[in-house]
Amino acid sequence: MSEIIVKKAEYSDVPQIAEIERDCIPQPWSEAAFAAALEDKKAVTLAAFCGSVLCGFVTGVYLLDTADIYSVAVSDEYRKKGIAKRLLEEFFSSLPNGVNSVGLEVRESNMPAIKLYEKTGFERVGLRKNFYQSPSENAVLMTKNLKD
Ligand SMILES: CC(C)(COP(=O)(O)OP(=O)(O)OC[C@H]1O[C@@H](n2cnc3c(N)ncnc32)[C@H](O)[C@@H]1OP(=O)(O)O)[C@@H](O)C(=O)NCCC(=O)NCCS
Repeated sequence: MSEIIVKKAEYSDVPQIAEIERDCIPQPWSEAAFAAALEDKKAVTLAAFCGSVLCGFVTGVYLLDTADIYSVAVSDEYRKKGIAKRLLEEFFSSLPNGVNSVGLEVRESNMPAIKLYEKTGFERVGLRKNFYQSPSENAVLMTKNLKD
């Protein structure tokens, strides 16, 4: 496998990002939503490339001292190679100094994602009953303290 390069996403990356999202997230963001995130100065979207192939991304936003991750996903054939972990680590590094914590919600049944978040320092801090629709499911709330 070629070296993985992670960089700030550009408009030309949006179709591939939205395609990965559609392939693996039950209620995916549209291309327009990803394009709007690129225009938002407080949003961070990073893309991982294996050679010329965009194989994963992370998108999130920060406000004052906290950040939220909206989505992280890696194409099926590139999984379990450390790409999501790398994307999250670069997301944390890209945040301004004043951001102290990162939060997210994840479907209770999504074990690969929960394991990934635990591996990168997130802790379970709550449960939001029936937060997700289609299918209805509880959300696990997780937080990572960046100042540990
Ligand atoms: C969750 C997801 C992003 C992980 O991507 P990935 O690149 O395969 O993850 P990594 O290779 O970086 O794995 C890092 C750690 O996460 C955990 N992990 C990842 N996939 C796992 C799996 N299938 N089962 C159990 N643990 C898993 C492991 O702890 C792993 O560390 P290890 O390899 O040292 O054991 C990927 O499975 C995916 O895109 N899923 C669909 C989208 C999704 O559910 N996103 C999250 C919701 S927003």
